[in-house]
Amino acid sequence: MNKDFDVVIIGAGAAGLMCAAQAGYRGRRVLVIDHAKQAGKKILISGGGRCNFTNMDVEPNNYICSNPHFVKSALSRYTQWDFLGLIAKYNVAYHERDFGQLFCDDSAKEIVRILMSECDAANVTVRLRTDIKRIEKVDSGFVVETPSMNYQCESVVIATGGLSMPKLGATPFGYQVAEQFGLPVFPTKAGLVPVTLHQQDKDALSELSGVSLPVRIESNDGTTFAADMLFTHRGLSGPVVLQISNYWLPGEALSINLLPNLDVTASLDEQKQQHPNQSLKNTLATWLPKRFVEVLLEQQKLTDKPLKQLQHKEIAQIINMLEAWQIKPNGTEGYRTAEVTLGGVDTNTISSKTMMCKTVPNLYFVGEVLDVSGWLGGYNFQWAWASGWAAGQDC
Ligand code: FDA
Repeated sequence: MNKDFDVVIIGAGAAGLMCAAQAGYRGRRVLVIDHAKQAGKKILISGGGRCNFTNMDVEPNNYICSNPHFVKSALSRYTQWDFLGLIAKYNVAYHERDFGQLFCDDSAKEIVRILMSECDAANVTVRLRTDIKRIEKVDSGFVVETPSMNYQCESVVIATGGLSMPKLGATPFGYQVAEQFGLPVFPTKAGLVPVTLHQQDKDALSELSGVSLPVRIESNDGTTFAADMLFTHRGLSGPVVLQISNYWLPGEALSINLLPNLDVTASLDEQKQQHPNQSLKNTLATWLPKRFVEVLLEQQKLTDKPLKQLQHKEIAQIINMLEAWQIKPNGTEGYRTAEVTLGGVDTNTISSKTMMCKTVPNLYFVGEVLDVSGWLGGYNFQWAWASGWAAGQDC
């Protein structure tokens, strides 16, 4: 059986629902199809259930994309202020946390409610629990085949997201469609993800599991982030580690300033003057978690002795150790816990204004399926809103 729509959007996530409402408001007959039993599943679990839906300060350099200019147009046409306008329309209370991150006061359900209400108001049809068998290009547009029905449409929008959290319904469907239509897809890998450690470091550090401390972390390419780092049973996590995971390459070490808010040289000197008999261990334990200091001593990264016995060379080594602790991850926790997927559909083949594929008219890609990944902090949802909005004006 066939049914006609103007636009079929695959994926009822952040980008797909935004796109659907926009196209619906333009008078397009829009169908959204998703295989999940619930729309916006990732939104619901995001931000610890409160959804970090955008950020006060959104810039193109908050995104990783092989074509760095690509994000500019969409981000400038649908900004964080536009999304806040939508939040205000539905009277959703929100608050700002560190680094300009905006969260719902109450629940991420409010964001899904907004998107579904917008789709409703724009007469969008949403079909959940529906698998896609095939998408075929025909003269008049496309045929989207599902087990129960074939849908004929002018435009198809792929909004199936990335590979992170397969349990929530993530699939490589979008990449497969890109390949079907001859579009290049950059290799994908887990992003915004905890890192795991080699056995020796894991054995030494796993007992610190649950301990968190503010650090500044640097990857080999010179990218730095400052925020909290958390020791876990498997390795390192916390916002700063998730951020740097987007820039870390296998085999490389991370350089971690364990005391980014302290002038270590001046403070050690002062302690040495005032408490010459105090041990290095006790001195450091006033600045860092005591157990962590003990681990550094056990690993012979530091040698304990009274401060007065420390020679200039030793002090320089201690400072170097504290300001550039080297740790080499052996991998990441992968898609199971990653918040995003790095890589994806090559943006060089997509119009930055409309998200339409340059070589296949009326085929659109929006959201995380594209080779666009944001920092932690609401940037990924802002990309989903902005790219979905851009396609929604055109599809
Ligand atoms: P999204 O993944 O939202 O939607 C894709 C949809 O396509 C899903 O509904 C899926 O079921 C459907 N689909 C997939 N394959 C299909 C197929 N074969 N057939 C039919 N349907 C299919 N970002 C942020 O900015 N702030 C935050 O607080 C967080 N927090 C967060 C927490 C966790 C745990 C995760 C995993 C991720 C985040 N993110 C985030 C990232 C954010 O969730 C993500 O970038 C956006 O949801 C991407 O939006 P999309 O619409 O592109 O994909």
